[in-house]
Amino acid sequence: MKILMIGSGGREHALIKKLLESPKCEKLYCAPGNGGISRDAELVSIGVMDKEGMVKFALDNEIDLVFVAPDDPLAAGMVDAFETAGIRAFGPNASAAIIEASKVFSKNMMKKYGIPTAKYEVFDDPEKAIAYVKAENTTPVVVKADGLALGKGVIIAQTIDEAVAAIKSIMEDKQFGDSGNNIVIEEFLTGPEVSVLAFTDGKCVKPMVSSKDHKRAYDNDEGLNTGGMGTVSPNPYYTDELADECMRTIFLPTIEAMNKEGRPFKGCLYFGLMMTPKGPKVIEYNARFGDPEAQVVLPRLKTDLVDICEAVIDGTLSELDIEWYDGAAACVVMASGGYPVAYKKGIEIFGLDENGQIDGAIVYHAGTKYENGKFYTSGGRVLGVTAKAPTLDEALEKAYAAVKKISFEGAHYRTDIGRRCHDGAGRL
Ligand code: AMP
Ligand code: GLY
Repeated sequence: MKILMIGSGGREHALIKKLLESPKCEKLYCAPGNGGISRDAELVSIGVMDKEGMVKFALDNEIDLVFVAPDDPLAAGMVDAFETAGIRAFGPNASAAIIEASKVFSKNMMKKYGIPTAKYEVFDDPEKAIAYVKAENTTPVVVKADGLALGKGVIIAQTIDEAVAAIKSIMEDKQFGDSGNNIVIEEFLTGPEVSVLAFTDGKCVKPMVSSKDHKRAYDNDEGLNTGGMGTVSPNPYYTDELADECMRTIFLPTIEAMNKEGRPFKGCLYFGLMMTPKGPKVIEYNARFGDPEAQVVLPRLKTDLVDICEAVIDGTLSELDIEWYDGAAACVVMASGGYPVAYKKGIEIFGLDENGQIDGAIVYHAGTKYENGKFYTSGGRVLGVTAKAPTLDEALEKAYAAVKKISFEGAHYRTDIGRRCHDGAGRL
């Protein structure tokens, strides 16, 4: 099969490495891809939002399967465009991708179908939102922009003044553009966070192994929120009992709710969960693989990913048994100095072989370019250095040993990925 991957980050590199393991994968393209991906797939220079360009390329090159990985093209109807052209594509239609693209939609859906989530109110008027947080007078309080905001549209306000400032910056100053026309104000939840990605064909849902992201830029969860600085799988707080409860109270009800709304979801549905003292609750849904969750979940996948994609598209997922490797995986993200704010690009990366790899680990490239046999930085998150091992401790040790052999000016990474998974303090 000829396969086209759409996207350019570490998640896409992880998907590509897994697709390459399939005997069915004969030729792999990635649009637009990155330096590391260029060692595994043929890069195609088409922007991720260019539906017409993508469909034309797929038709001209007789592509058998397209994988749409990022949120923006999914929300903009990339899968719908391929389907209209008669090309098989993995990912939800725009009508279902709204589960991520609009927090107002997902919160209202959860309320309507009794899916556990934080209590909330929706506002389209900043004055009313401000009056509400002042009247409620509880902190911390969570302020969320309705639309997509590169994972940065959530503000946890510690004081009422901070909440008022967040409302003004989202709704009046349009910090996130039109994504902030509406906002959700919600109750602050506590407990360990767990990410569960699941394959679904709209009829059945097959959760993958669990994982844990580390969203803050610096050690001890300090600094700004980022796209994710590292991950581990499995998430030790996600017991079998909690998994059963989530299936019953969250996963199945969500698939059913989307069907009842006339928005059947096909693809990878990401459940961002919090294990609160009152049971598991949904923090957010994503309509796609997480980044860098994919980098620890996919290496543990034993079943052929092409077979899974086809079963999801054909609606035959219930007939497929999806198998996983035991053990654990850890991913440490090496970022550009200054990320997630301003950072330099074009800095040479040392320590990688000609394929952008290193002994003892798998290096997923996120923001790199490849020129004349050398790799250079080209984004905020640069590399996801990942290792698999029988235990989480060993996986972390291997990943960090590899990180220490890679260098570029200003390189920054967290030194505590996975650490809270051991201390038994009940917090991750
Ligand atoms: P999101 O972009 O929705 O994943 O939110 C980013 C992060 O903000 C989450 O991973 C949580 O750590 C935190 N967060 C979001 N909503 C809440 C909430 N209601 N209570 C506590 N923390 C939250
Ligand atoms: N790592 C979180 C996300 O992909 O949204």
